[in-house]
Order: sequence, then structure tokens, then C-alpha cells
Amino acid sequence: MGLERPVVGVVGAGTMGAGIAQLALENGHEVVLHDVDEAAIARGRARIGEGLARRAARLDLDADSIDDWVAGRLGGLRDAHTLDAVGAEAEVVIEAALEDPDLKRAIFRALDAATGPEVILATNTSALSVGSIAAATVRPERVLGLHFFNPAPVMALVEVVAAERTAPAIVEWAVALMTAWGKTPVRCADSPGFIVNRINRPFTLEALRMVEAGVASVEAIDAALREAGFPLGPFELIDLAGLDVNLAAARGIWEGLGRPDRLRPSTLPERLVAEGRLGRKTGSGFYRYGDAGRGAVDPAFAGGPTTLGATEIRDRILRAIAAEARLVAREGVATEREIDVAMRLGAGHPAGPFERAAAPTIDP
Ligand SMILES: NC(=O)c1ccc[n+]([C@@H]2O[C@H](COP(=O)([O-])OP(=O)(O)OC[C@H]3O[C@@H](n4cnc5c(N)ncnc54)[C@H](O)[C@@H]3O)[C@@H](O)[C@H]2O)c1
Repeated sequence: MGLERPVVGVVGAGTMGAGIAQLALENGHEVVLHDVDEAAIARGRARIGEGLARRAARLDLDADSIDDWVAGRLGGLRDAHTLDAVGAEAEVVIEAALEDPDLKRAIFRALDAATGPEVILATNTSALSVGSIAAATVRPERVLGLHFFNPAPVMALVEVVAAERTAPAIVEWAVALMTAWGKTPVRCADSPGFIVNRINRPFTLEALRMVEAGVASVEAIDAALREAGFPLGPFELIDLAGLDVNLAAARGIWEGLGRPDRLRPSTLPERLVAEGRLGRKTGSGFYRYGDAGRGAVDPAFAGGPTTLGATEIRDRILRAIAAEARLVAREGVATEREIDVAMRLGAGHPAGPFERAAAPTIDP
């Protein structure tokens, strides 16, 4: 494709956009950063500077060279106040604006007009159809999904999403670029939740169902999964992501897959969201949060009944995850190997579902 080190346009300078811009700068690209909100560009620029400084501190450099490295990388960053300004320079554009299908389609329509026909357009959508975003352009073969995980400069996994009309050469080009950036790209088809967000649905859903059924408490479930090597228990994870975010993902994937019973969202988060208890960010969800971080389980869930043992709790969740993983593989969304890699690197699972099935020592 001949794009050795393309100029990267980033649209949306929030959490993900700033992270992606930082990553491109670290790898020696020039970056044009755009946001509708001028203040967001300034905030993004500050965050990128801090991120580059953190990265530089880990390089084997003396203090002066660290400053030079950060200044050099930041020198490649330019603000773009319009999409036309992005289009004037960028050879590949990565969109990380809000998760709103109409907004993303409008941005892609405008990018299609603002950029040359050879420019590759990528979306960092978490769960929207890449194909429906690509359809807003007259170059759907040059549109794909690049699903980074938060924080983008740190998390190794990138799901490279091929929509129905994405050209195979564009997918391969993106895989090569992500590899050059030090990432571990996995290819996947344009299907609701892609790999990680779909296969990890049962991690929280089965946990919620056990609490609703009165067979295991919040604390017992979180303890069982932590013991099994997961970085966070399901309820700690929901609180961290936000109950509203978890609920939106649960609904989006369930709807997108045609409302299968197995993934029907639990009503428990709905009730908490209605009460304004969104998890860590509001100070209360399944747990209480204060200045010192996570406190005790919320009184509404404290001391719940637990008739299932830790092994049963863990097995019930792992079985549901394995079943979803088999469906994803059977549907051709991704290969078993890529699913295993994605679940380890994207969701922190100690082993992928197929590795677990193949190795009795890690199979519970
Ligand atoms: N946060 C995550 O963990 C995560 C992980 C993977 C993917 N994503 C996806 O990445 C995207 C961005 O998420 P985020 O967490 O960075 O959100 P964010 O709210 O931090 O940032 C979004 C930014 O987009 C800007 N924006 C809104 N409309 C715009 C427009 N028309 N043109 C340009 N910029 C516009 C906003 O001003 C804001 O600065 C979403 O699609 C999200 O689903 C998020």
C-alpha cells in the first residue's frame, strides 16, 4: 500500500482519541487532532503531553534526552479546527467521537468529502455496525473498524474489524500498521460486540443472574472470580465501567444479535441506574466508593445468600463464556486462536476459552 508512516487524523479528542493520537505520535507519525469542542482539543493535547512524558520516563534516556524526545513527538501534533483541515493532511483517519450512530455517519459523510479518495477511514466504535458507518461514504472498501481498548497507549489488543465491503488489502494494511505500533491485532468480522465485548457478556450477566436468583452474593461472586485469576470480579468491573455503560452495551449487543434469551439483559442494573447509582463515578453502585477507593459492598447487597460454592460460581460463568465463544467461532466472526488472544489481552482473562478447554490443568 506504500504508506510507510502515514499522517494520522484523529477525530474526537476525548479519552480514546487522545490515547490513539499519543500512540501514533510515539510511533513517529504526524497527527492532526480534531474535536468539535475546542476545549477538548486543548485538554487532549495536555493529556497527550503527560502520556508521552510517562512513556519517555520508561525509555532508557537521561533527563535532557527525555525532554527532547517528548518535545520532538509533540512537535508532530497539529490541531485541526475543521474536518476539512483533517482532510487536507491525513492519509488515514481514526474516528473516536461519541458512540452515536447518526453522529458517526455524519462524520464519515463529511470525511468522505473532505479527504482524497485513497484515504483510509477507521472507526473506534465499541459496538456499532462498521458497515452502516461505511455506507455513509462512497469508499466503503477503504473503511474499517479499529477497536482499541482503554487506555489505548497501554492495552495491547486491537480488534481490526472488516465490514462486508472492506477490501482485504485494507485489513492487512491495518494489521501491519497495528503490529508496527507494537499492538497485537486480531481480525474479526463486523458483528455486534465484535469479539471481546460479546464473549465477555456472560461474565457480568451470569453474575447478575446468580444474585437475582438469590444463589450467590455480590462478595462471594467477586471473590470466586478473583481467586480464579481474573483481575476484577464481575461487580467490581461493572462499577468501574459504569452501570449505565454496562447496561448500554448489554442492550446493544442483545438487540444486535436479535434478542437471544441467553443474553437478555438483567433488570438489576436498570434499577440502580434509575436511582442514579452508576458505580465508581457516582460513589455508589454494587459497592460504596470514597476517597480511599472501593469501600464495602452497598448495604442493599451486603450479606446476601450464597448457596453456591466458589467453584460452582466460577464454573457457571466460565461455561457461559465458553458457549458464547463457540458461537462466535462457529459464526466465523473470528478464529479460536484469535478469540483466545483477544480474551486474554482485551478482558484480562487468565486463559482463553479454547485454551482452557484444551488444557485440563487450567480447566476448572
Ligand atoms: N472509553 C472506552 O473505554 C472506549 C473503548 C473503546 C472504544 N470506545 C469508543 O470510542 C469512542 C470515543 O469514546 P471516549 O470514551 O473517548 O469518549 P469521550 O466522551 O471521552 O470523547 C469523545 C469526544 O468526541 C467529541 N465529539 C463529539 N462530537 C464530535 C464530532 N461531531 N466531531 C468531532 N468530535 C466530536 C467530544 O467533544 C469528546 O471530546 C466511542 O465510540 C466509544 O464507544 C471507548
